[in-house]
Amino acid sequence: MSLTLKNMAIKAGKELKITGVPKPDALGFAINIGHEEDNIAFHFNPRFNQHGDHHLIVFNSRQGGSWCKEHREHHFPFEHGEEFKVSITFNNDEFEVKLPNGHSVNFPNRFGDDKYMFLQVEGDVRITGFKLK
Ligand code: GAL
Repeated sequence: MSLTLKNMAIKAGKELKITGVPKPDALGFAINIGHEEDNIAFHFNPRFNQHGDHHLIVFNSRQGGSWCKEHREHHFPFEHGEEFKVSITFNNDEFEVKLPNGHSVNFPNRFGDDKYMFLQVEGDVRITGFKLK
């Protein structure tokens, strides 16, 4: 499944809440925020079993089509078939994501922008809710 929004401004200081359900056999999914497919400031990629990784979250950015340096987080509060909620905020310096277990993770805002117009959710997940405020 893939959801792409290209005309909604996601601004610094706003909170983006996404609820979803990983498919029963999900390998992984991703939430991407940036300018376009090749220029992603925030790639949030929970991996159940994907690219040789098991039960971890990969964070990265993508510039001009190339992936940058990954951050790897060994918290994995996601379950097959169980609804989760994540909340994402950012400023010029960093993104912050609140995970379903209450733990927060920061990832640098490497582009330093305060507005992004590209939001994508892709992979083995069904989106059940979406809020920006
Ligand atoms: C790659 C993967 C991409 C992205 C990237 C993050 O291995 O193919 O989809 O997750 O890692 O660094």
